[in-house]
Amino acid sequence: MKAAALIVAAGRGERLGSDTPKQYRRLRGRPVLSWSVEAVAAAGIEQIVIAIAPEHAELCRNATKGGPAVRIVEGGASRTASVRAGLAAIADAEAILIHDAARPGLSPSTVTALLAALASADGAAPALPVADSLRRIDADRRVIGEVERDGLMRVQTPQAFRADMLRAAYAALGDQVMSDDLAVVRAGGGRCVLILGDPRLMKLTYAEDFAVLDRLMGERVT
Ligand code: CTP
Ligand code: MG
Repeated sequence: MKAAALIVAAGRGERLGSDTPKQYRRLRGRPVLSWSVEAVAAAGIEQIVIAIAPEHAELCRNATKGGPAVRIVEGGASRTASVRAGLAAIADAEAILIHDAARPGLSPSTVTALLAALASADGAAPALPVADSLRRIDADRRVIGEVERDGLMRVQTPQAFRADMLRAAYAALGDQVMSDDLAVVRAGGGRCVLILGDPRLMKLTYAEDFAVLDRLMGERVT
């Protein structure tokens, strides 16, 4: 299946709060965004689109300079809007992989496994089991219930889709807010599966996440 990749990088990193937005900060000597670009290219994907905030154009050019060819488009005010903008710029793909720039610990083998999963599904995502026990709380943080951990998974990106199903699901979405693209495709009637995720696909959200991921990526074997 001919595949394209959309890397969404149009966020402002408000929870991290650093001068340089997290997707353009350096991790293990390279811009965060460049790790994901290299990984999808190494998996054989040639069409790579990156959705960015317009004021980050220069940062993005620098972060992708000298690497695989990419097309840069303007994202939107929400992640969903950035995905829509990126999808509009993708042509000629039977499969589309959507990935958060804020998850630089991507291995080419994960990309390959996700695309392979599309042989029998409309959408596929990496996910990890939940280690801690879970509680439901009220507005005052009083415990009002226990949530069974078995049968729950923590979903990561990249998420891979059959392009026709993905486009139809986004067209049918309207104003609804969904947690991720897999939820959009499932709401559109698509069959979705999870593959075993990777701790290195953790999302950079807070300052301390950089040190954790730096260490995990140092242990990289694939
Ligand atoms: N994203 C995007 N367009 C937006 C918002 C987010 O493309 N309008 C992207 C981010 O760049 C990131 C991914 O979606 O790669 C996940 O978002 P998140 O981790 O929330 O990043 P930010 O929105 O940048 O961070 P924050 O929420 O702390 O501001
Ligand atoms: Mg955000």
